[in-house]
Formats: sequence, C-alpha cells, structure tokens
Amino acid sequence: MRSTGALFLLSVCALTAYYIYSPIPDNIEQRWKLMITDCFFRSLSHLADFSELLGLTDYMDVMMFITFLERVVPVSDERVKVAEEHFDGVEVVVYEPRQDRGTGEMKRAIIYLHGGGWCLGSSKMGPYDLLSRQMVTELNAVVVSVEYRLAPPYHFPVPFEDVYRVVKYFLQPDVLDRYEVDPERVAVSGDSAGGNLAAAVTQQLQLEPNQHVKLKAQALIYPALQALDLNTPSYQQNQHMPILPRTLMVRFWSEYFTSDKSFLTTMLTNNHNSAESIALLKFVNWSVFLPEPYRRAYNYSTLSISTDKTSLSLADPRASPLLVPDAVLRRLPKTYILTSEYDVLRDDGMMYVTRLRLAGVDVTHEHYEEGFHGTIMFTLWPTEFEVARRIVDNYLLWLKENL
Ligand SMILES: *[C@@H]1O[C@H](CO)[C@@H](O)[C@H](O)[C@H]1NC(C)=O
Ligand SMILES: *[C@@H]1O[C@H](CO)[C@@H](O)[C@H](O)[C@H]1NC(C)=O
Repeated sequence: MRSTGALFLLSVCALTAYYIYSPIPDNIEQRWKLMITDCFFRSLSHLADFSELLGLTDYMDVMMFITFLERVVPVSDERVKVAEEHFDGVEVVVYEPRQDRGTGEMKRAIIYLHGGGWCLGSSKMGPYDLLSRQMVTELNAVVVSVEYRLAPPYHFPVPFEDVYRVVKYFLQPDVLDRYEVDPERVAVSGDSAGGNLAAAVTQQLQLEPNQHVKLKAQALIYPALQALDLNTPSYQQNQHMPILPRTLMVRFWSEYFTSDKSFLTTMLTNNHNSAESIALLKFVNWSVFLPEPYRRAYNYSTLSISTDKTSLSLADPRASPLLVPDAVLRRLPKTYILTSEYDVLRDDGMMYVTRLRLAGVDVTHEHYEEGFHGTIMFTLWPTEFEVARRIVDNYLLWLKENL
C-alpha cells in the first residue's frame, strides 16, 4: 500500500516537473519564475481547449479567468483622480493628476489600449491600472484607458471602431480643454493587440481630411501588425515560448476576424491568404524588411492563395497596419516601438521599424534581447519580473522626452 502511494507521488512529481518544464533560453532572467508562471498559463489553455472540446464553453471564456483574476476597482488616491466614463458611448477609465483644475497648467495626454489578443484583458487589470497611475504621476499626464469591446462576440472591426471613436471624441478642442490637455501633446499607446489598435488608429486618423488636432506620437509595445504571414522567423523561433506560443497568437488573429473555427485550422498552416491579401504580401516581406541577423537562418517561401474561404478583413490595414503603402506611412507622427527577442511578434515590430524609417518617420526602436511577450503585465507580486521594471522605466522615459 505504502509503495503504491510512493509510486503515485513519484509519478505526480515527475509529471508536474515535466509539465512545468519548458525550454527557456539562458539569457532570460528569473527562468524558474517564468516557467512556473507559464505553467499556469498553459494549464489554463489546456483546460480551455478541453472545455471547448466537450462543448461546455468557448476557449476564450475560460481564458478570461486571467482577466478576472487580475481585475481591480480603479479608485482615486491622494495623487491620482480616477473616473469611469463614456466617450461617445465607449467605456473608458480616465486618470488625472489630482490638482485643482483651473490652474491653467496644460497637461500631456496618453490614450492607452490594453493587450489581450482582442479577446482578453481589461483596462481594469492591476498592471494596467498601475501603469496608468505611473504615467499620471511621472509625466503629469491625463490617461484615457479604453475599455473597448472584445471578440468573441465583437469581432473586427468593432474593437478598432470603439478605440477610434474614443480617440476622435477626445481630440475635440472642447474636450481637451475640459481636461486641460495641450492639443499638441497627445499620444496613443498600447501593448500587443493594444499596440495593433494604436498603430491602426494613428494611420486612419492621418487620413481624415477634417481632423485638425493631430497626435504627437505613437508608442507601440510588442505590437501585432499583420495577419498575412504567421511564419515569420520570430513565429518559427518562438513558437513554444512562454506566455504567447504561436498557436495562441494565431487563435487570437482568427477570433479577431471570425468565430468560424475552420479559419483557425487554415491559419495555423499559414495558407489562409485571399487573392486580395496575397497582393499585399510585399508589405510584410520579412526577407526584405528584417535586419540580416534575424533572417539569416530562415528561407523565404512565397505564400499561395487559399482554396478555402478566407476572411476578407485580412487585407484591411485597420487590422494589419503593416499593409499600408509608404505614402500613408510618411504622414505618421514620431514613433516608439518596443520588441522582445523571445516573442512571436518580434518581426512584426521590426518590419514596421524598417518600413517607417524608409518612409522618413522618426522612430525609436528598443529591442530587449532578454525580453519575452507580455512583459509589462508582470509588474505586480507574485509575478513581477526585473525586466518588466526596466521596460516600463525606459518606456516612460521616452514619453517624458518625446511627448
Ligand atoms: C520577397 O522578397 C524576395 C527577395 O528577398 C523575393 O524573391 C520575393 O519575390 C518577395 N516576395 C514578395 C511576395 O514580395
Ligand atoms: C534553407 O535552404 C537551404 C538550402 O536549400 C537548406 O540547406 C536549409 O536547411 C534551409 N533552412 C531552413 C531553416 O529551412
């Protein structure tokens, strides 16, 4: 009896160790902590898969647990005034320096878009709440953190349109005036899917003929920028990396466009392009736009048109901002792009850096050799990481100097 128990315990330990263990590159700091954190994410993902397989709930409903776990009630404190409001019908959380309005001092403003693959996340998660407060206190800025609607059920273009409505509403002179914001010092920023939305709204706003107040800057933190080629070198190199394995990123893209699960299967094989999107592949050609060291070990193969029915939104630059021609890029404001080495989205960011620079845009590129996807979410106990603190500090410093 005792030996059976011991054997059982041993097997559980072996299984747990096997399960926790994921190969993590040597230059990532706090590797064990990342392994355990990732173990939690992977367990949840397996549970989500299983529950979808049994027909109990949708995959994303289970993954939403992460959002609920980190949810806080944003409240005012002695330095920051917080209010939940609606801008043109879209929910936002506004963070302002706690000082009397009417002192005449004009402030900067940042419209912030949270990450989570257009399916998860909330501006009311602890790490985003903390980041917004830091922006208020360190930059003397007003922060508008947008609670855009999520897929499923709100597929593209709903999340984009929600954000766009907020940006246009906020940039009206009387609204800026109400918040004592300097119209010349407004930026849009976001991480991951939020970086995608930030890049998309910045482009679309430049195309509006009657938009008088312009954005001063865009700051994109490991943004997703294209859905045409899901086999760039970074997608290949990092397909099993913690937090955002390739399968999850592809699932986010697929869910952004449709609830049709067969589209996910097609996207996973990277054979999902329509005739329309194939014509735009030249804008995401990594063999042209990636710096040589990153493409060296990989062979470029041209993609073909899918025989399955594909999503028309694939060719829409509001979903894939890398798809605009240079003429649109040329009009963009000063840009900050952060990329991480161990991230499937690394090459999306790198290609945008190259294309923007070729178009003459002022770009600051910060690449973290020791970074992984989702780092800025890891600023709070028990999952705080040193690299996250450095990243946030440098990001805030850039905003301080450029906004
Ligand atoms: C991508 O670039 C390579 C050259 O590096 C070229 O051979 C290929 O035709 C290009 N493909 C597309 C779709 O632009
Ligand atoms: C790229 O092509 C070369 C020559 O055909 C081949 O030797 C190499 O294994 C290929 N590399 C990859 C990553 O497929």
